[in-house]
Amino acid sequence: MEISRPRGTRDFLFDEMKKRKKVENTLKRIFETYGYHEIKTPIFEDLKLFTIKSGEEIVKQIYHFKDKANRDLALRPELTAPVARLYLNEMQKHPKPIKMYYYGSCFRYERPQAGRFRQFWQFGCEIIGANSPQAEAEAIALSVHCLKELGLEDFELHIGHLGILRGILADAGVKSKMQDKIMSLIDKGDTKELKDNLQKISLNNRIEDLLLALIEMRGDPIILHKVRRKIINFKDALRSLEEFEDLIQILNDFGVNSYHINLGIARGLDYYDGIVFEIHVPSLGAQKQICGGGTYNLLEIFGGEKIDSTGFAFGFDRLVSALEKKEKDESFSFAEVFVAPVSSSTRSEAYKIVQKLRAEGIPADVDLAGRKLGKLFSYADHLGVEKVIVVGERDLKEGKVTIRDMKTGSQEIVRLDKLLEHFRGHYGGD
Ligand code: HAM
Repeated sequence: MEISRPRGTRDFLFDEMKKRKKVENTLKRIFETYGYHEIKTPIFEDLKLFTIKSGEEIVKQIYHFKDKANRDLALRPELTAPVARLYLNEMQKHPKPIKMYYYGSCFRYERPQAGRFRQFWQFGCEIIGANSPQAEAEAIALSVHCLKELGLEDFELHIGHLGILRGILADAGVKSKMQDKIMSLIDKGDTKELKDNLQKISLNNRIEDLLLALIEMRGDPIILHKVRRKIINFKDALRSLEEFEDLIQILNDFGVNSYHINLGIARGLDYYDGIVFEIHVPSLGAQKQICGGGTYNLLEIFGGEKIDSTGFAFGFDRLVSALEKKEKDESFSFAEVFVAPVSSSTRSEAYKIVQKLRAEGIPADVDLAGRKLGKLFSYADHLGVEKVIVVGERDLKEGKVTIRDMKTGSQEIVRLDKLLEHFRGHYGGD
């Protein structure tokens, strides 16, 4: 009987894990440079956490189940709602702003395809209690910084503001539930269904045309002047536009100058109400969105006080694919050493050597299968190891070992008491 993996899930083997680990470590380092601290929340939560306000789309896609005590639980489809819960449960008294980051798997019951999985990983952050335009600018700067550090060039940053669209709809008397629905249709880019729904709620033609024109507006910050002329009579929308203009100013101070203003960015989750942004990598095709975020009002929805909160999450799997496309054949090899005892009498010294290297933080492996030297060289080659330390009887008697460079095939003899020094020089240990 063959037992296969559930649909939409993947196994990751060694090379893939090395690549993922490298990206994870780079992201952790940069998020920490920006003053964020790591948190972890449970993989499953009370179903209600996600049904209160995570968006119609998400609710349909939730993996939910009853536990043995008949509780309704759900595998988390994202991490913003869990972080809001964590804040309300444990952190309300912490000095603000609170800057948190997370890395973990999420589950959505969707039709699997390239770049769209049922189990996927998000690397993201939330900042609670900072003023919006400042927090938004720093969050956007952080996301761009990460991509630059990872060496990704082929990406586009799109920034919109939901307050402009929602402000116009609210002014026209459209209730917040219906606004959510309209935002989700804009997000999907389903213009026909969007128009049908706008007709259904008998939106005045002038407002419908305005909305349809706004969501098509994209370009340099200069287009915000055009937006201003269009929405001059809508007080709430105008306030949001002013916030947008502030953001542009601060983004410039944070060194972010390359982006598209895009009022068609509506996001798929219902909790956003301010600046929203997405990062696209066009070469990834249909699932090109590698990052999404913005300002949201979840804490108030969950019964807390209204506190400005902003965040974003990288779709980690899509980010790794985008980097793979860029890297092509450039492998993510790691410097490694393999210790090869020539005979059983040198085995004990080989173990001592490998432990000394490991204690210095030098990635090292040793023969555990009792194989002959020829076989050990081909195994070390398969591992992508750079150097093999050959531990032979004659060398040992003179307090030496032979080091073979696997790329060039050259060999050198090194005294055992100088071995660590030799590798420290190679692998940067100190
Ligand atoms: P989201 O846009 O739903 O936002 O997800 C964030 C990222 O996760 C997406 O940009 C995408 O790259 C990736 N993603 C989503 N679904 C899948 C999937 N089925 N397979 C692979 N990757 C996927 C959020 O989840 C918000 N919580 C982000 C946020 C944080 N907003 C504020 N703070």
